[in-house]
Amino acid sequence: MRKTVDFLVIGSGIAGLSFALKAANFGKVCLVTKSQIDETATKYAQGGIAAVLYLPDTYEKHIQDTMIAGDELSDRSVVELTIRESTERVMELIEWGVNFDKTKKGKFALAKEGGHSEYRVLHHKDMTGKEIEQKLILAAQQNENIEILENHLAVEIITQHHLGIDVTRRTPDLTCFGAYIYDPNKKKVRTVLSKITMMATGGIGTVYGNTTNPLVCTGDGIAMVYRAKGHVRGMEFVQFHPTSLFNPKESPSFLITEALRGAGAVLKDEEGNEFMLKYDTRGSLAPRDIVARAIDNEMKISGKEHVWLDAAKIKKNEIFEHFPNIYAKCLSIGIDITKDLIPVVPAAHYSCGGIITNQWGETSIHNLYASGECASTGLHGANRLASNSLLEALVFSHRACLKSVEQFENIPFCHDIPEWDSSGTVLNEEMVLITRSKQELQAVMSSYVGIVRSNIRLQRALDRLFLLYKETEELYKKSILIPEICELRNMINVGYIIIHNAMDRKESRGLHYSLDYPAHKDLQQTVEDSL
Ligand code: FAD
Ligand code: SIN
Repeated sequence: MRKTVDFLVIGSGIAGLSFALKAANFGKVCLVTKSQIDETATKYAQGGIAAVLYLPDTYEKHIQDTMIAGDELSDRSVVELTIRESTERVMELIEWGVNFDKTKKGKFALAKEGGHSEYRVLHHKDMTGKEIEQKLILAAQQNENIEILENHLAVEIITQHHLGIDVTRRTPDLTCFGAYIYDPNKKKVRTVLSKITMMATGGIGTVYGNTTNPLVCTGDGIAMVYRAKGHVRGMEFVQFHPTSLFNPKESPSFLITEALRGAGAVLKDEEGNEFMLKYDTRGSLAPRDIVARAIDNEMKISGKEHVWLDAAKIKKNEIFEHFPNIYAKCLSIGIDITKDLIPVVPAAHYSCGGIITNQWGETSIHNLYASGECASTGLHGANRLASNSLLEALVFSHRACLKSVEQFENIPFCHDIPEWDSSGTVLNEEMVLITRSKQELQAVMSSYVGIVRSNIRLQRALDRLFLLYKETEELYKKSILIPEICELRNMINVGYIIIHNAMDRKESRGLHYSLDYPAHKDLQQTVEDSL
């Protein structure tokens, strides 16, 4: 049941695949992914990938837009390196076979999204992620140095804790020796020892009831690293996308890309009035946190479950050419977006926080790297600029590869690691215990830890979560391991971290808005100083 590899990659989205493709030039890679290989948030990305290509855009403008969106919490040096590497990383995607739309003159067709001062988003119609995911999968499948294990779920990363050493503190000396991986064929947990482990498990959207994220986004990597006493931060900054399609029968929610607003669609209230200018001079293309809060407020005022998006002013041929996926999807439920209003509602979309990494993707645990949505590199600060996440994943997987190939040959395998201990566990005969707890968690997070928060709401969420945590830990300890219980446990851990990080932030900043602290700390300080 034991396996040894140079590089263990957990996750098959843009972060995991692009790392695997590069690491495979140097050693053997085992890539595990808990569902089918293409079931990732990457596949559902619509708008595209931000990169600086042509004047009048410049790196400085993209850096500035990213800093503004991050509400002064982004790490400027990380922003600079990410944006300055954008052109090179995008060119590499093209070399891997990814097609981006072009204009009639043969230049890349660039779109604009909220918070961007220039047109700089490369896209493949409104299915950019699908195009990227397909091409990366193809390249990985053709690579002899990459072994792909589908439907294999990473349960825990292996550290000194598994050697019986008491790891009670977040010590700087932790080392990752690989991971315990659930093998669906044997229905057993396998030990995979690795020199380098790359955590690329994506986001956390399913912790909320209404999300654009696919079901695989249960925050597993963040929870595993947190339990292993690795460092995690910024989890209070959950980005709610302003415009998911309001269709209560469907979960996850279908996204209506911001690029549609970039092309001219506007938000309207029940009476057909454009309401965004009341909130921000940038109107419907203001940064996401502002638009999502404005919609939330409009819904509270009107008592309705959604607002409207009007795309009727966009030329029909532009809709058919650039937004065929959205057009077809809406038409399938009776909405013709070339003339009908689209009902939209905010949905949990992106986690700006995650596993802390340095500029080389290294985490606080030796030999463990993180990239993509599960990582917190310092790029996004308090709010992510649209279409910066695919870019971030490419940049940090590249940098992680550069660093890890310098090290991996000198890293020994730790053969003393014991096999997974499942003694004393029995089959859980009541799946309902898991499904109901998941629904309760989602209800708690959506009700009390959503777009607008307060101390009392957060405390309420924490109290409710504590009970779910206790019940789930008990069930986990006595049950034969199945992926569903692992995911529930991870989701509860992630919910707990979000609430705690939100409680610790005694200000409103970026995506974290609290009724109890309506202003930035520094703004509050300015007001206090002027009194
Ligand atoms: P993912 O692509 O989500 O991949 C995570 C992988 O990890 C999956 O393969 C999953 O199965 C696997 N995994 C998770 N847990 C485990 C485990 N325990 N064991 C084994 N495998 C595991 N960003 C942009 O920049 N531009 C866009 O236009 C854009 N549009 C978006 C539209 C939608 C609908 C959504 C949901 C997101 C969008 N985003 C966009 C965000 C972006 O898609 C994601 O942040 C990015 O794709 C994350 O890539 P990733 O590789 O980190 O994770
Ligand atoms: C979108 O297309 O609106 C999503 C873009 C993103 O999340 O970056």
